[in-house]
Formats: sequence, structure tokens, C-alpha cells
Amino acid sequence: MIPQSFIHDLLSRVNIVDAIDRYVPLKKSGTNYVACCPFHSEKTPSFSVSSTKQFYHCFGCGAHGDAINFLVEYSGLSFVEAVQELATSVGMQVPEQQSDVHSNNARASNHKWKDNAYTLQDLLKLMQRATQFYRERLKHSQKAIDYLKLRGLSGKTAARFGLGYAPEDWHNLSTLFTDYQSERTKKELMRVGLVISSENGRQYDRFRDRIMFPILNLKGQIIAFGGRVIDRGEPKYLNSPETDLFVKGQEVYHLYSARKAIRDAGCAVVVEGYMDVAVLFEHGIEYAVATLGTAITAVHVQKLLRQTDKIVFCFDGDSAGKKAAWRALESSLEQLVDGKAIYFLFLPEGEDPDSFVRQQGKEVFEQHIARALPLSEFLLMELTRNQNLETDENRAKLIQDAKALLQRIKAPALLFILIKRLSELSRLNQHELEALLQIKNSVPPVRAPKSITRKQPVSPYRWLLSVLLYKPQYLSELDKSVLELNDENNEELSALKFLVEFLDARPDIVTGESMVSILTYFQDSPFRALFEKVESDMLSWDNGMDLKAEFSGAVNKLQEIQRKKRMQELHNKPLALLTEEEKRELKHLAAH
Ligand code: UTP
Ligand code: MN
Repeated sequence: MIPQSFIHDLLSRVNIVDAIDRYVPLKKSGTNYVACCPFHSEKTPSFSVSSTKQFYHCFGCGAHGDAINFLVEYSGLSFVEAVQELATSVGMQVPEQQSDVHSNNARASNHKWKDNAYTLQDLLKLMQRATQFYRERLKHSQKAIDYLKLRGLSGKTAARFGLGYAPEDWHNLSTLFTDYQSERTKKELMRVGLVISSENGRQYDRFRDRIMFPILNLKGQIIAFGGRVIDRGEPKYLNSPETDLFVKGQEVYHLYSARKAIRDAGCAVVVEGYMDVAVLFEHGIEYAVATLGTAITAVHVQKLLRQTDKIVFCFDGDSAGKKAAWRALESSLEQLVDGKAIYFLFLPEGEDPDSFVRQQGKEVFEQHIARALPLSEFLLMELTRNQNLETDENRAKLIQDAKALLQRIKAPALLFILIKRLSELSRLNQHELEALLQIKNSVPPVRAPKSITRKQPVSPYRWLLSVLLYKPQYLSELDKSVLELNDENNEELSALKFLVEFLDARPDIVTGESMVSILTYFQDSPFRALFEKVESDMLSWDNGMDLKAEFSGAVNKLQEIQRKKRMQELHNKPLALLTEEEKRELKHLAAH
């Protein structure tokens, strides 16, 4: 484990501007630095680096983080490697750590930095130990090795994927974890889904006599397993259940390890099975990833589009494949961005990527990838399939069917082009069609100059958040009673409470005057996305801004809201029922 204090010292020593400039040349712009974003393709720079608060943010794709995040995201380094590289660049020595390749869990990375923090770290450590155990057992199981050979996988690929073998016994993990007797470890093993408790309270291993595929999240942490039976048996693949670490519909198998290959290839191929990914890798196609036995979701698409401009979804050519492809299309519509493209590749019936690449080889497979069907074509093809567009009724139906789909597309150029195509097919002119589709402004609006575009007014909570992130010292100016407003659905308020609780526990940070972004401590916070947006607000602050006035202005506004609310409460009570104290309070409130 690398201590969090070292991470903090390292980030205060490193200048993020230099660290990024080495890879992506930056230009000064006011107090910030800008460049075209390295994480998505663009022509005008929306990637900014704050030298005052040491973070980067892209207004285009939302990429956000500190110097370590940048190296991990950009160079595909593991967390530990990134820390080492940065430390070397400023002549610091990384303190002792465990030698494990997966120890990039070291970052204080959780929403509850107190007790719970350790629990989450413990769960991740448990997953690592289990992975090591399964890998070790693979070396000693001829049966498992033979099976992988039969599937055409080399030892090298098996190692790259961290493949393992879970032996037949019912109690492997209890022997492995010698401290298993401790109630805590038992609970943790159940919490990560490795051990199941039967109805009569007996506990046994979930995975037995299976080839084990570790599943990593985008931070390189092992969060789940997929286990395949050797030869026949049901179910063919057994997966970890959803746990604190693992949400199925959000994870993309192998995406973490394939990031560099995806960037180099300029494309990610999405297939259905773990085995397909491994076999494609074996054949030199290293940019394939898979969903985890679920349909493709919008979250999958979003995650993939943050890594690449081109996704190719690969499906079987049968009707189930077509259906799955259509669902993938529907999950993609809202995520579409001009400049990014999604394609569909249908394999010949009866083939999956595994069998196909083994028969035909890398080159043919890549030719198929290059000829895949663009989403727009697939969309129009399916909308017009078996429709005789010579009849008015069928053309009306076409428009009706297209409406719900096109309304979800936010990419202006693509939408415009699709409307044009649809107008040819339906024989209506564009204006008529747009009226029917109830889509406004499908013609890309001329972009207003930057200075005129006005952002949403900033809520008081958001002001408090951003000022506190910028200068935690303002904590002492905060009237904490404004946090007591019960406004449960307000994410900004919840995030503010979270931040204040954190700062209360860390006086060193409050008084520290540090330039290190506090988000460094919130790698996995449930409010991470909001914090990133709030932090990015700072990039547009100018030097003349009076933070103190903004901060107390926001506090005053909230106090006023609270005052009105309390007055309303008291007013709603019949006068006769008010206690003397409440009457005094009301008088006091009204006198404001
Ligand atoms: P497939 O049944 O297509 O398997 O499942 P496959 O990838 O071709 O596997 P091999 O070649 O027989 O080994 C595709 C994916 O669906 C999920 C798994 O994620 C699998 O990789 N799946 C499948 C399950 O979760 N459970 C199952 O029982 C079967
Ligand atoms: Mn298969």
C-alpha cells in the first residue's frame, strides 16, 4: 500500500502542467493551460489544466483528474506505475509497498474514508488473493491446462488475462484464508460473492471446478469473476453476483487492459463472451472487450466512447444476434456524438468471434471489422425492412417508427443527415418531416461566440462546494445550520454535507493551503461526477473574483431560505397552539 500522505506529498511536488505537457503540449490561456483533448477527438481545445488547483478537465468528454489519473488514463500505466513515474520525475522515493501487480487499489478510494474505507480496501484485497490462488491452482491442474490449450489459448494469453482454476473442493477459500475463522473474513467472502451460505447455514465456495476469468474495473481493481465449466455442465458460465464492488450492467470485460490497444487501433470491438475476447487476443486482435452476459447498456456505450471514437459491436448473424444488436442500437442513441461512430458487425450464422477468428484468421476478421455496418445504415435498414414504401400508409408508418428513435439522438450533424435520408424515403420535404418528428433545430445552430453563452445560474450549494474545494479554509466561515435543510433529493446538498464531513475530519487539509485537488481523496466517491463538474467551474473564474463575498453571499441566501421555511412552518400552526417560545421565535424571525 502506498500511504495516502505520500500521494499527497507527491502531488504537491509535481506540477501537473509539466507532467501533462510532456505528453500533450499545452498552451497558456489566462491562468489555465489548454490543449485539444487527448481522450477524445476534437478540433478546438476543450481540455484545460488548472495550475492553481492541479487538475485537468475536458469540457468536451468530461475527462477529469489529477496528475496520477492523467498518467493512468493516458499511458495505460497502473496506479503504482504512475506513482513511480511521477515520483522519479521529482526525485522522490516511493515508500515500501506490496509487490502485487494489482496493488493499484492503494489509493484512498472510497466514500467513507473512516472505517468503511478499510472495508472496501479489504474486499479488493480479498479478490486479489483469490485471483492469485486460482492462478496458482491453474498451474497444477493438467485438466484445466489441457482445456485452455484445446480452446487455443497460450500460457502467455492465460497469464495476460489472469486466468485461473477453481478446484473441485467445496471449501478451497476457507483453507486459503487461514484467518477464515474470523467472523469478519467470513462475512467479507460472502460480501464479494466468493462464498455462499446455504439454508442450513453451511458455507461453501461459489466457484468449483471452473476456469476463472477475473473481471477488472477501469481502475484495474479485481471486482468479480466469471467462471466457465470445463467442457459440459450448467450453467456454462457462472458469474459473481452483484456486490459492493460489482454492478453488472456497467462493467466492460477487459476494457482496462485493452485501453492502450484500443487507442492504437482507434477502435474497440465489443463481443459477447469472455472466451471470445481471449481468443481474439491470442490472434493478435487485442482491442476486443465484452459485456458481462448482459445486454449492452448506455453506461457501457458511454464508457467505451470515453476511450475511443469508434465502437464496433460484433454479433452472431442469427435472429438473436440481430435482436441484441437492435437493443445495443437503442442503448447508443442518446450517447451519439458527432465525430464518434458506432458500427455493427454480423458474423456468419453459427459462428462466434472465437470460432470465426480461429478459422479465418486475423486478417479476414479485421476486413470484416473494416466493412462493418454504420449505426445509421443499420437503423434505416431495420426501419425499412420488408416495408413497401410505395404505399402512403407504409411511409407514414416509417415516420412514426423513426420518430421515437430520432428524438433521442443528440448529435446534430448525424441527426440532420438522418432526417435528410428519411425525407428521401418518405417523400416529404425536410420541414414537413421535422414538424412531424417534433424535432427542433435539427439544422446545427450557428455557434454563439463563447463570451455570450451564459451558464445556468449557480445554486448556493454549488457555490459553497466550489469555494470549499478551492479553499477549504472557508470551512470556518460556514454556518453549518444551513446544512440542516431537509432537501433530500438535492445532490448538491448531499455532496456538500459529504465534503464538510470530510473536512471536519481532516483539519490538516483545511489549514494546509495545499494546491492539491481534494478530489484526490475522492476517487470512488458517489459524488465524484458532481465534484468533477463543480471543480471545473474554477477554470472560468477570473482573478478579480471575490471568493469571500461569493461564499458569504451563498451562506446568507441559504440562511434566508431556512428562515422563510421556519416562518412558514410556524405560520401554519394555529396561533393558539404556539408555545411562548415559538411566538418569540416567530417574532425574531419576522424582524429580520
Ligand atoms: P456464450 O454461450 O455465447 O459463450 O456466452 P461463449 O462466449 O461462446 O463461450 P464458449 O465459447 O462456449 O466458452 C457469451 C457470454 O454470455 C455470458 C458470459 O458472459 C459469456 O461469456 N453467459 C453465458 C453467462 O453469463 N452464463 C451462461 O451460462 C452463458
Ligand atoms: Mn464460443
